[in-house]
Amino acid sequence: MNAPTAAPKAQFKQRVFSGIQPSGSLHLGNYLGAIVKFVELQKSHDCIYCVVDLHAITVWQDPAELPVAIRDVTACYLAAGIDPKKHIVFNQSQVAEHAELAWVFNCVARLGWLNRMTQFKEKAGKDRENVSVGLFAYPTLMAADILLYRATHVPVGEDQKQHLELSRDIAQKFNNDFGKSIAAHGHGDVFFPQPEPLIQGPATRVMSLRDGTKKMSKSDPSDQSRINMTDDADTIALKIRRAKTDPEALPSEEKGLEHRPEADNLVSIYAALADISKADALKQHGGAQFSAFKAALTELAVSKLQPIGSEVNRLMQDPAHIDAVLADGAERAQQIATETMKAVKDIVGLVRR
Ligand code: TYM
Repeated sequence: MNAPTAAPKAQFKQRVFSGIQPSGSLHLGNYLGAIVKFVELQKSHDCIYCVVDLHAITVWQDPAELPVAIRDVTACYLAAGIDPKKHIVFNQSQVAEHAELAWVFNCVARLGWLNRMTQFKEKAGKDRENVSVGLFAYPTLMAADILLYRATHVPVGEDQKQHLELSRDIAQKFNNDFGKSIAAHGHGDVFFPQPEPLIQGPATRVMSLRDGTKKMSKSDPSDQSRINMTDDADTIALKIRRAKTDPEALPSEEKGLEHRPEADNLVSIYAALADISKADALKQHGGAQFSAFKAALTELAVSKLQPIGSEVNRLMQDPAHIDAVLADGAERAQQIATETMKAVKDIVGLVRR
């Protein structure tokens, strides 16, 4: 993966923040779109990786299942190779400042900005009057997650791009609205950085195995549409074998994938898992029939995912260990969050203890 380029404003320390919702089992899209990059960025940056449980409860979550889902995302982070000692791993609800800053941002963001969010429109569907207020305000909480740590880089999949743009708008409006106060409190010209989305590589949008025009998603009712991080080798093999394709052989060049969404998706997944470009994947497999390509893809997917899946299962046997990791991470995250919130309160003009 390319290292992040153009550094934002010089006064901001480079810091990575990202999060995943504990709202169902993690899948290959989460892994290739986000987690692989989280792991890579540890080499070059200070990183904060969050399990965003407050985002998850914007839609109904069974209270008996939510703690398991929170630990499951944490286990996935650890099993994939995130080091919770060198970096920070925690769940959002343990650091109350996320909700506190989100409220301030609710007063900065404009209704019209949130009305334009396509993910809200998709999730709310026709039943807009009946969804939670939290689901609508969700992107202001996401901006708070990032800006609480004044993070400069945010690795995400393609579907989060618009939310990242909104975070940048909120940061900018806050800096503008409170410009004088920011300077008066000794913070220079701007208080919040403009967080850069990092959306890179061949698998920024992994599609459903059943329909190459739909995103692979935790909420798809068909389990056959996705590969879960804890699927065993036989299940992975079966899902890939059943994945929708077309009757043609694979092309030798990327252009040949145009208008072939399912072929494009499988080649993208292969390239991302092998850490090569799509062009290189096609150099290796161009001309192959899907039966042969699917066998190669299965072998690759199993070799990459199975060690992670079994480590997740092992870690999940010891919830106390996972909870200790989260508590330690929350404590360290809160130290940064407390400082930001003190400054924000001063800047906004709220009297504090
Ligand atoms: P979430 O939990 O839906 O997804 C977690 C991450 O996985 C990526 N992703 C995908 N990437 C490629 N192909 C797919 N099919 C696919 N599905 C999911 C997402 O883009 C994301 O990077 N709002 C966020 C969570 C969040 C967050 C944040 C992220 C809350 N606060 C602050 C970054 C910074 C979400 O719902 O992701």
